[in-house]
Amino acid sequence: MKTLFVTGKGGVGKSTLSAAMAWQLSQQYRVLIVSLDPAHNLGDIFNMTLKDKKTRYTDTLYLKEIDLKKLTKEYLKKEIDILSSSYKYLQVLNLDNYFSVLKYSPGIEEYALLTSIEKTIREEKDFDYIVFDTPPTGLTLRFLALPKITITWVERLITIRQQILKKRYTIHRIRGSLSDSETVLDYDEQSDRVLTRLHDLHQTYEELNKKLQGPDTYICLVFNPDILSLKESARLIEGLKDLKLPLRLLINNKVTVENIIMAEKVEVSMTSMVKNIPLERVPLAGGIFNEKTSTLYHIEKDLTQHLR
Ligand SMILES: Nc1ncnc2c1ncn2[C@@H]1O[C@H](COP(=O)(O)OP(=O)(O)OP(=O)(O)O)[C@@H](O)[C@H]1O
Ligand SMILES: [Mg+2]
Repeated sequence: MKTLFVTGKGGVGKSTLSAAMAWQLSQQYRVLIVSLDPAHNLGDIFNMTLKDKKTRYTDTLYLKEIDLKKLTKEYLKKEIDILSSSYKYLQVLNLDNYFSVLKYSPGIEEYALLTSIEKTIREEKDFDYIVFDTPPTGLTLRFLALPKITITWVERLITIRQQILKKRYTIHRIRGSLSDSETVLDYDEQSDRVLTRLHDLHQTYEELNKKLQGPDTYICLVFNPDILSLKESARLIEGLKDLKLPLRLLINNKVTVENIIMAEKVEVSMTSMVKNIPLERVPLAGGIFNEKTSTLYHIEKDLTQHLR
């Protein structure tokens, strides 16, 4: 199963082109397109009301819009359940209070999004392609960076936890046998829930990172023939390089006779930043508009030949 992330600055045409590419791929493969953007318009493009459950469009194309608010709530609930079962003493604290503080913590939305991507990739193996229409650059780079950051953190936490368990064991040996009324804190690595959870997290994020950096992940960068879009694309390219994530396709969207000189300039700059990445050009109104929703429906050019 292959995954395609369509990224770029706000308004460049990510949703339109993800929909077009998903449609084109679905002529030959089974495709699921997932909108990760909090301001969805996937439903408008296909003229359907979408929920966060996948909806059939054709036999080979399914659509889904992620409900970020609901997802974040579910994510927090799950984490707090795990937390309270791992740390029994937390049950005496006010977890609701804890919940409302965590809700506003930085990074929660990104973690919720990443968890949902990980789950989708793990569960939707029947599809040949999953196309992710991503939110604008900043949020996208932040959630793509999370697996690497998390692995670094979790490795450090595993070491700290192992040291704690060793100290507990030493104390246990010094104290000898205990009377019935005394409790023994866990010192065994195999039965320690916190350590087990940390190992699970490590494995999950290692696998996800491997998948994201591997040959079956395609990141496509959409831009327009203008300087702002070029500057933001340059930031994205740098970010992807740092994270060792594979940029596989550039699309210069909304090219016209009037902006062709700018379009060429932007393309020269882009291709000097990334060597040997295929580049496609899509003209402004280079396809068929959906009469009901006035959104671009089918792009005339096949943009998916480099993704097969
Ligand atoms: N090649 C094109 N020709 C004409 N209109 C286009 C083209 N590509 C995109 N558009 C239009 O540009 C607008 C923005 O496109 P779209 O919603 O796909 O961008 P986006 O990058 O997903 O935006 P956002 O960052 O807000 O999610 C829409 O009205 C869309 O119909
Ligand atoms: Mg969009």
